Amino acid sequence: MPDTPVNTLTEAQARTELERLAETLATANSAYFRDDAPVMDDAAYDALKARNAAIEARFPHLIRADSPSARIGAAPSEAFGKIRHARRMLSLANAFSPEDVAEFVRRIRRYLGLPDDAPLPFTSEPKIDGLSVSLRYEHGRLIHAATRGDGETGEDVTANARTVADIPETLEGAPELLEVRGEVYMSHADFAALNARQAEAGAKTFANPRNAAAGSLRQLDAEITRARPLRFFAYGWGELSEPLAATQYEALQRLAALGFSVNPRTRRCDGLDALLQTHAETETRRADLGHDIDGMVYKVDDLALQDRLGFRSTTPRWAIAHKFSAETAWTRLEAIDIQVGRTGALSPVARLTPVTVGGVVVSNATLHNEDYIAGRDSKGAPIRDGRDIRVGDRVEIYRAGDVIPKIRDLDLSARPADAEAYVFPETCPECGSPAVREAGDSVRRCTGGLICPAQAVERLKHFVARAAFDIEGLGAKQVEAFWRDGWITRPSDIFTLKDRFGPGCPRQVKNREGWGEKSAENLFAAIDARRTVPLARVIFALGIRHVGESTAALLAGHYGRWDAFRAAMLAASPEGGDAWDSLLSIDGVGPVLAASLVTSFQSEIDEIDALAAHLTIEDAESRATDSPVAGKTLVFTGTLERMTRAEAKARAEALGAKVAGSVSARTDLLIAGPGAGSKAKKAADLGVEVIDEDAWLTLIGAG
Ligand code: IVH
Repeated sequence: MPDTPVNTLTEAQARTELERLAETLATANSAYFRDDAPVMDDAAYDALKARNAAIEARFPHLIRADSPSARIGAAPSEAFGKIRHARRMLSLANAFSPEDVAEFVRRIRRYLGLPDDAPLPFTSEPKIDGLSVSLRYEHGRLIHAATRGDGETGEDVTANARTVADIPETLEGAPELLEVRGEVYMSHADFAALNARQAEAGAKTFANPRNAAAGSLRQLDAEITRARPLRFFAYGWGELSEPLAATQYEALQRLAALGFSVNPRTRRCDGLDALLQTHAETETRRADLGHDIDGMVYKVDDLALQDRLGFRSTTPRWAIAHKFSAETAWTRLEAIDIQVGRTGALSPVARLTPVTVGGVVVSNATLHNEDYIAGRDSKGAPIRDGRDIRVGDRVEIYRAGDVIPKIRDLDLSARPADAEAYVFPETCPECGSPAVREAGDSVRRCTGGLICPAQAVERLKHFVARAAFDIEGLGAKQVEAFWRDGWITRPSDIFTLKDRFGPGCPRQVKNREGWGEKSAENLFAAIDARRTVPLARVIFALGIRHVGESTAALLAGHYGRWDAFRAAMLAASPEGGDAWDSLLSIDGVGPVLAASLVTSFQSEIDEIDALAAHLTIEDAESRATDSPVAGKTLVFTGTLERMTRAEAKARAEALGAKVAGSVSARTDLLIAGPGAGSKAKKAADLGVEVIDEDAWLTLIGAG
């Protein structure tokens, strides 16, 4: 019955099917939210939810009291207290090939201005596959333990952490304040024994050691955690009252001396080749280590250099995770579907006979674009020896670093005789508009703009996303449902929802499936709370192609106010002129991005104005308001001798300054090294203050 089309189900079948779906989805919810042990991938989950909704729409009188459409996931655990991390817990950028690692090393040398022959030692440590925790010690006593959570705030798992044998309760000779960071994990043997015990007791078993470790640490009853064989490796630290050592390697040794387990396979390496060698060696021994690792982590050894390198928004510049090759599995390609994204891109998706890859059931994989299906790369050169991908093919699936599954290979000998070459559509499957490929673009795009329902709904989903308007209770699923019924067709509709579907209206949100009085009230309150919104979020929320979160922040920082931004976007034209030059003077904004921004903004100005009319848009403030360069626009020119351009720029931005590429009347300060040419002259003409590198370093307190 699960495969019977909804429109042919009998009433009795529908009733049984709704019951089955309610059960399956409830299990999936608890597995995902409560137990960290997903039993299906997102696509399979979405498909079941959609089927449930379709059956409910056809047989409204059969809707169950515990209908899955009435709930939005399962509440994340409220059971644990929250702990705000004194220093954020970040993640790592990934490298998948030796070339990626070489680029990582080159980037660091470039950033620091280190010549190729200057020594640059690294450490190489196995990347343990568990969950990270932060342990805070004050005066040598364990004060609290927290999971990573969203990096800013984690769950308080202190009582549970105290039951882990590798986590010392007290430390001898430690700094007064010491936050130790590391990975809680479970060994293969302990995992197998735990699952055997669970199975015998009729309790649930875990999909893999990582889920088992996470599920065991996040037990409400610490006595259960005590009975679970968890281990801990220390790999780093957070807040400290004094430095542990001068290098990463020595700092780890110091942690070992204090009583922590540190990974015995940690090595100091003098460069790229040595790093890659540790990777190759460890990968071959991977199965014998007794616990899961998913790669090696390389870190700049010198802690003073780590400090100078600092962080990008969510990852350190001084470290990278070099992943091991992914696990793979063979399955059948059942169909190729085309999804239309927010910017009109037609993305082919492989629908697969579900197969388990690395512990997760996979039923979809990306096919990238039409060239990829045809067996060509973006330059027309053959990939997979030029073999194309056809519906019916046996394909090998892999997951690289937990990202979307991909197709690695296909088996031509298993190709059905009647398999036909795939013909990529030249019209949008959602709205029928022509789908065109511009020169140099590997992607075919729907030209329908907002008349295309797929683009319109994807734009709305983007608008309410976490980094955009982030309206509580209005996620992708809800927006889609409102959109289907025509209640919200464009962003500005969100802010009139209450007037049209609030108390006193003939049709009301509270009467919708899955809503009630309280949740509707909460939604209206959440929408009201977002009527005042920072400039950068509004710019990002517009969903313009090439304008991501960091570009939106740059634009907000440059223009400062909504009125100024709006006026500049209307005035700018790729033909040139002041507004265009000003846009291009922003470091990080190139002509392609600028053209996309200006064209979209101008063509959608009516909707943008309608939206802005509902909002109070806050001026952009500089991040660090107490620094001497906060809010100032700086330009660097000539040769800097004590740091590279990249480092100077990152430092200036971290202090709240804007860094522009050219001197204009808006420039506050020019930092000119030796060899400064026309920019210094222009600055002098415009009366812009000019200082040298030493004065700059003194100004920012690095002199
Ligand atoms: S260093 C600021 N070292 O990998 C960067 N992380 O993908 C801090 N992990 O969240 C991470 N082994 O949970 C580091 N030797 C190691 C690690 C390691 C495992 C985990 C950690 C982190 C994740 C990032």
